[in-house]
Amino acid sequence: MITKKSLFVVFTFIFGFGIQAQKFEELALTPPMGWNSWNKFACDINEEMIRGIADAMVESGMKEAGYKYIVIDDCWHGRRDSFGFIYPDSTRFPNGMKALADYVHSKGLKLGIYSDAGTETCAGYPGSRGYEYQDALQYAKWGIDYLKYDWCNTENINPVGAYTTMRDALYKAGRPVVFSMCEWGNNEPWKWAEDIAHLWRTTGDIFICWDCKHEHEGGWYSWGVMKILDMQEGLRKYAGPGHWNDPDMLEVGNGMSVNEDRAHFSMWAMLAAPLIAGNDLRNMSEETIEILTNEEVIAVDQDSLGVQGFKYSSKDSLETWFKPLDNNEWAVCFLNRRAEPAVVEFDWENENVVDEIFGYEAKFNEITYAIRNLWTRKNIGKTKRAFKATVPSHDVIMLRLKPLK
Ligand code: GLA
Repeated sequence: MITKKSLFVVFTFIFGFGIQAQKFEELALTPPMGWNSWNKFACDINEEMIRGIADAMVESGMKEAGYKYIVIDDCWHGRRDSFGFIYPDSTRFPNGMKALADYVHSKGLKLGIYSDAGTETCAGYPGSRGYEYQDALQYAKWGIDYLKYDWCNTENINPVGAYTTMRDALYKAGRPVVFSMCEWGNNEPWKWAEDIAHLWRTTGDIFICWDCKHEHEGGWYSWGVMKILDMQEGLRKYAGPGHWNDPDMLEVGNGMSVNEDRAHFSMWAMLAAPLIAGNDLRNMSEETIEILTNEEVIAVDQDSLGVQGFKYSSKDSLETWFKPLDNNEWAVCFLNRRAEPAVVEFDWENENVVDEIFGYEAKFNEITYAIRNLWTRKNIGKTKRAFKATVPSHDVIMLRLKPLK
């Protein structure tokens, strides 16, 4: 018998009514890794440079280490055509985005792009407001795999609505895209964006310095690495596989000391942060390559448990951080924020390391762990004996603990 209900089911099937838009699941089960043009190049971008970066990502060993997305930030835009479809600037991208995506894909990498929920991007190019579905279709046609979506020029817009609209537009366009929200933590996205985006910025922009506050014209600020680190307080409970806190892109290789770069990279790994390099990959020092491709540190970031680390203790600017890992392992990082070296003494069996939010416990009294130093890449004993070492200024000692059977 043909009932009303069966007719509805048939219609729904044929016409796709009721297909709920959602975010693409399974795309970022570990924090995304890649490169973005903004930190080093700002608006000075073009297709030849992006191709060179893709080549360098492969040649430097970064692809092998897990980096995948090449993301073109602000300023790629040209005009909209008379139907409203967006095109790249034809001087900077003479062969168009499809050709560039094909090239990046031919290297086994993925291409990302940038837009803004408002009328204009932060640099004054066309924003997606009112063009969300058209832009998402255009990106899908080009073969875009990642979208960073900014929050400039959004006066009177509701953030949950704006980001949901773009999420739905991407979903309807049909090509899986990692959706990276960039509203600087203004509206506490960690509380509402789990089903909208794969990652959300938690702060304003990072700045290439250890602990400074940099004032821009117009009265806004960018933040040094330690300032950004401190702003992550209280956010770890909101992150997990498929939905990450994003403390902004890396400044490794952009001018801080090697110690500072190492500490920055290590702490981002402890935070399970997206690892998006922001330097010129075509021109890197040995030290920068060594930091960005340390696969043992990257493994801490990319651990499948997906639990963000926490500050266990802090004394006189010497901090001890722990991160629970899969298989009952732990990462430990001693971070020296002082201007001089610091001696760390850590007697495991006297410490009660408990992750109160996710319920992990190290139980150093009952379990002995083997210790590996992730930067010297040496096995350095067991947790039966207290650990004693000197941490250079603005640097870390990062360890991985593995329970002994
Ligand atoms: C904002 C973002 C940055 C970058 C610029 C581009 O400031 O937070 O990461 O995308 O816009 O204009």
